[in-house]
Amino acid sequence: MHFNKRTNLYLAGGIIIFAAFACVFTVGFAQESQSEKAGGNSKCYVCHATMKAEELTVSHLTLDVTCDVCHGLSTEHMHDEMLMTKPDLLFGRSEVRAMCSNPSCHKPGGERSVYGLADHDEKVVEEFIKSWRGRIRPNGRAVTHDSVCTDCHGTHNITEAAEQQNGNEQPVEWAALFNGSDITGWKSSGDVSWTVKRSRIVAAPGATGKSGVLWTKDEYEDYLLAVTFQATWPIHAGIWLRGTGKEQGVEKGVRIEIFDSSEPMAFTGSVMVQGKGLALANLRDDLLDKEGWNTLSAKVQGDKIQVWLNGKEIGVVRTSGPAKGKIGIYIEGQPKSKSTELQVREVQIQRLKKQE
Ligand code: HEC
Ligand code: HEC
Ligand code: HEC
Repeated sequence: MHFNKRTNLYLAGGIIIFAAFACVFTVGFAQESQSEKAGGNSKCYVCHATMKAEELTVSHLTLDVTCDVCHGLSTEHMHDEMLMTKPDLLFGRSEVRAMCSNPSCHKPGGERSVYGLADHDEKVVEEFIKSWRGRIRPNGRAVTHDSVCTDCHGTHNITEAAEQQNGNEQPVEWAALFNGSDITGWKSSGDVSWTVKRSRIVAAPGATGKSGVLWTKDEYEDYLLAVTFQATWPIHAGIWLRGTGKEQGVEKGVRIEIFDSSEPMAFTGSVMVQGKGLALANLRDDLLDKEGWNTLSAKVQGDKIQVWLNGKEIGVVRTSGPAKGKIGIYIEGQPKSKSTELQVREVQIQRLKKQE
C-alpha cells in the first residue's frame, strides 16, 4: 500500500495500521496485500454481503483492519436472531470525522505516515467537489465543503442512505447489483470466464477469442448506474445499457465503451449505439486511471443517456433504442496470445421514476 508521498507526518505507536482510503474517483488502490484476508470479516458478511465489495471495507481489510476493529466484536449483535441488539460501536455521520481521525489512524503525528484530512490535495478535492455539484454519490450523500470522510469515500453507509430517504420526496435507493461473493443475479453469454476473486468480478476472454457479456437477469428502464472497474490495457470492454441479454453482435442497446480507439479517436466513457456506431466520443484520455480503479456513471432516462467518468461529465446522447433492457458487462475476445482482464468491484443502481 502506498501512503501519501506528500505527507511528512508520522505516527507514534500506531496500534492499527490503516490503509489509505481508496478514492474511487481520482485515486485507485490497485495495490493489495498478497493474501486474501477475508476470513476476518466473513462472520459479518453472512448478513452484510454487500460490504464485501465496498471500497472502504476492502481498502481497510487489505491492512487487516477488519469490521470488529471499528465496530467491536459485536458478538451479541451477530447472534441476535431478533436483530434487536446493535453492534458494539456505531458512528453517526457527525461522528465519522473524529472516528477516522483517531490518533492511530488518519491523524498526523508519530512514526508512521498516515493520510488525514490535512494531507488532501486541495486542488484535487476542489475538482472533486465541483464534479459532484448538484448530484448525489452512490452512498446517497452530497459532496460539499462540509463533507465528512464517508460522504466522499466509499458506499459504506448505503443502508443509511436508503433508509434516510424513505418518506422523502426523492427516494434515494441505491442497490448493489454485484453482491461481492458470486454472480447471483447475472447470466453469462459468449466465451468469457467470469469469476469472483477478492470481491471483484474478474472477466477473462476464453481460448476461442470470442467476446462475452455478463448480463443482469433483470431488466431496467430508467436508472442511475455507477460501475467501478479496473482493466489491463489494451482492452476493449464496456457496459451495456438496456441490452437484450442475447449473444454478442445482435443485441440492441447502448454501450459505454472502455477502450482506446484511434479510428475514430475516442476513449473510455464514449457511447456506442448498436447499429449506429459511436454516438458520443470522449476525447479526453486523461480522465482514466489506467493503473487504478475508475468509476463510470450513467443517468439513463427516457431517450437520454448521460455519462460521467470519474465524476467528470462526458456528455449526453439521445437514442431511439429500447426503453428498457438488461445491464451487461462486456469484454471483447482477444487473440490467444494476449491476456486481458477486466475487474469490476461495484455495480450500483438507483431506479428512477419515469421521466419527471
Ligand atoms: C445475523 C445477521 C447479522 C450478522 C452476522 C451481523 N449483522 Fe450487522 N446488522 C444486521 C441487520 C439485520 C442490521 C440492521 C439492518 C441493516 O443495517 O441492514 C445490522 C446492522 C448493523 C450495523 C448498523 C447498525 C445501526 O443501527 O446503524 C452495523 C454497524 C453492523 N450491523 C455491523 C456488523 C458487524 C461488524 C458484524 C460482524 C461482527 C455484523 N454486523 C454481523 C445483521 C447482522
Ligand atoms: C470533500 C471530499 C472528501 C472528504 C470530506 C475526504 N476526502 Fe479523502 N480524498 C478525497 C479526494 C478527492 C482524494 C484524492 C485527492 C488527494 O490525493 O488528496 C482523497 C484522498 C484520500 C486518501 C488517499 C487515498 C489513496 O488511495 O491514496 C485517503 C487515505 C483519504 N482521502 C482519507 C480521508 C479521510 C480519513 C477523511 C476524513 C478525515 C477524508 N479522506 C475526507 C476526497 C475527500
Ligand atoms: C475503518 C473502520 C470501519 C470498518 C473497517 C468497518 N466499518 Fe462499518 N462503519 C464505520 C463508520 C465510520 C460508519 C459510519 C459511516 C457513516 O455514517 O458515514 C460505519 C457504518 C456501518 C454500518 C451502518 C450503515 C447504515 O446504514 O447505518 C454498517 C451496517 C457497517 N458499518 C457494517 C460494517 C461491516 C459489516 C464491516 C466489515 C465488513 C464494517 N462495517 C467495517 C467504520 C468502519
